[in-house]
Amino acid sequence: MFNTIARPMGSRGGSGAMFDTIAKHYDRLNRLISLGFDRRWRKAAVNALTLPPEARLLDIATGTASFALEIARRHPHCHIAGIDPSDGMLRIAQTKVRAAKHPAPRIELLRGAAEALPVAAQTLDAVTVSFGVRNFPNRARGLSEIHRTLKEGGQLVILELCMPHGHFLSSFACRYVRRIIPLVGRLWARRAPYQYLTQSMNAFPPETDFAQELHQAGFRVHAQRAFMWGTCHLFVAEAIHAAK
Ligand SMILES: C[S@@+](CC[C@H](N)C(=O)[O-])C[C@H]1O[C@@H](n2cnc3c(N)ncnc32)[C@H](O)[C@@H]1O
Repeated sequence: MFNTIARPMGSRGGSGAMFDTIAKHYDRLNRLISLGFDRRWRKAAVNALTLPPEARLLDIATGTASFALEIARRHPHCHIAGIDPSDGMLRIAQTKVRAAKHPAPRIELLRGAAEALPVAAQTLDAVTVSFGVRNFPNRARGLSEIHRTLKEGGQLVILELCMPHGHFLSSFACRYVRRIIPLVGRLWARRAPYQYLTQSMNAFPPETDFAQELHQAGFRVHAQRAFMWGTCHLFVAEAIHAAK
């Protein structure tokens, strides 16, 4: 359905192996540490998508396919592929896609990393990445690959967690991210991946800098929105090829 092309993957791509170790706890822990807000954030991101009929959409860092399934529910005629380097996450995704009740969600699952997408140039109408860009070991390469695969005007919707700032309640949220999340992760699963979450949020650039990275990769940013005092950011952009 997606006519993927073979591309060398090199390593499994970033933190894929680490996500194998938490795959079976991921959905529950995600809900717990986001206090259930991850659902709302994903819904807001899906609302931002404007897709032509029969659109081809690639969900990168698809993980357990929660976001891809939400898109399939709202856009049943869309052709969706989800890609991720973690076999563990993809196994759970496969089970969820098979069990989905709505009429045959057309979600294809692929193993791979953002930095080498197995998709021909300018063939996609939309790309989505929820809570995944932070994990790209080479963000510039990943963004450039996304740009390559999108058609002129194709949509890019990104949801990402950042270290909260810019609101009087941000320091409260920071303390939650730095102290409580690693503690919950250690109690429930293993410590390292949830320490990694805090570290990777710390390492992710402020939203204005990230918007600039998108611009440098050939995107026009249409909208940005912050949730929960800057803990989560939504970026909506379109690929411009003419200017590159
Ligand atoms: C926090 S999970 C997000 C999963 C899902 N998108 C969601 O909303 O729940 C991050 C995912 O990024 C994947 N990942 C790590 N490195 C990657 C890369 N270089 N390219 C694509 N995905 C990557 C991991 O395997 C993991 O499944």
